[in-house]
Amino acid sequence: MSNQQGTNHAQGVPVVELTGWREVNDALRRKDVRQALYDEGAVVMGDCLLTLHGDPHRDRRRLENRLFRREVFDVWENQLLARTLDDTLTPFVRAGRADLIVIGYRLAMSLTAHVAGIDHDSADPDATERLYAVVKKFSEGATLVHSTRDKDEVRAEVLSVMDDFDRDLLQPAIARRRALIDDLAAGRCSEADLPHDVLTTLLRNQDRLDLPADVVRREIAFYLQAGAHSTANALTHTLDKVWAWGADHPDDLERARNDKGFVQRCMHESLRLDPASPVAWREALTDMEVAGREVRAGTRLVLDLKAANRDVSVWGPTGNDFDPNRTIPDGASPWGLSFGAGAHACIGQELDGGLVDGEMSGGTTQQLYGTVAVMAHAVLRAGGRPDPAAPPVLDPASVRKHFSSYPIVLGA
Ligand code: HEM
Repeated sequence: MSNQQGTNHAQGVPVVELTGWREVNDALRRKDVRQALYDEGAVVMGDCLLTLHGDPHRDRRRLENRLFRREVFDVWENQLLARTLDDTLTPFVRAGRADLIVIGYRLAMSLTAHVAGIDHDSADPDATERLYAVVKKFSEGATLVHSTRDKDEVRAEVLSVMDDFDRDLLQPAIARRRALIDDLAAGRCSEADLPHDVLTTLLRNQDRLDLPADVVRREIAFYLQAGAHSTANALTHTLDKVWAWGADHPDDLERARNDKGFVQRCMHESLRLDPASPVAWREALTDMEVAGREVRAGTRLVLDLKAANRDVSVWGPTGNDFDPNRTIPDGASPWGLSFGAGAHACIGQELDGGLVDGEMSGGTTQQLYGTVAVMAHAVLRAGGRPDPAAPPVLDPASVRKHFSSYPIVLGA
């Protein structure tokens, strides 16, 4: 790997790493580069939205964008999430303690299952655990490029789990939705009776776009992991930062307990410092100039979102520090580049991050704070705080700041 100035090689592929805000921002928005992080993970990621390029990407994105709109965020955040929170948090609140990691993935998994279109009972923790185990295997397949295991062995495991998933969860979900779509066509039900989810959106348009059954399967598998892991990760990091900041700023901790908008700002600031996916990869499709120098077609651009988000030339001398009250630089989003930018910018950005000031009015009945802020606020309202007797544990197997356990106490 190289620094910003040089080109290095990884397995014969020239690699250029970009770390500056402007360079990374520009590279994400270029049309003459393609997604390159998931080539080895095609067993899950082949032909899914994130790996498509050009017109096929534009067509699929247009279709799925129809689902990711304000009225639907409103339903997800204010109805679906409210139920999921109730189902998931209540047993932990009764027990007076929990592992924040478990709360995070159960909440995120249940919510993402609904968004993707897998019918799921969030009040059944065993079902949530089983689904999460499936999704973890999909992620192992998607991120094969980083795996130190035998890759063919991992692929075989992923395909076997994918078969079980297809039989036990996806086909029943498809059958239920097809029946509803037929009912709608026959006038036996109305639009409002159809679920708001990715699977329904794809099934209703399967004939218009090239969407064979295996592509639908991988798209749903991809959504399950794209939504679940980043949401759970963002929840833990947000609360970790709120509690650390609150130790020195007790007024802000009190504010966080009472003001969802403030928690949303903390979420954005936390996400800027610790993006769920800290690095994006692209491949140059032509010879081009990148960050002021010539790059050959086929070069891998490694875009360090985390470094760009902390670039002091844009974020100022405190760019590396958590400060939920900071002034956001002109032209930047409060979360930096953590939701990506350009054609592949995260479709779930408003779902998880909410709408920022000035966007609040359009068509919704209530403000949208984003699911992560709403979840974090619910944990704070339930009296959630780090367990003084059991500090959080960082995953020793990860080079990233990744918690493997985060004991908390709940209640007064
Ligand atoms: C805090 C939470 C999240 C973070 C930090 C995040 C981050 C990202 C990033 C950085 C990308 C772009 C990757 C690239 O350009 O290589 C992306 C794309 C994507 N994300 Fe998210 N994501 C989050 C939540 C979600 C959720 C909840 C969903 C859906 C339920 C979702 C669905 C997607 C999809 C479908 C894409 C691909 C978009 C495209 O290629 O057009 N994400 N996300």
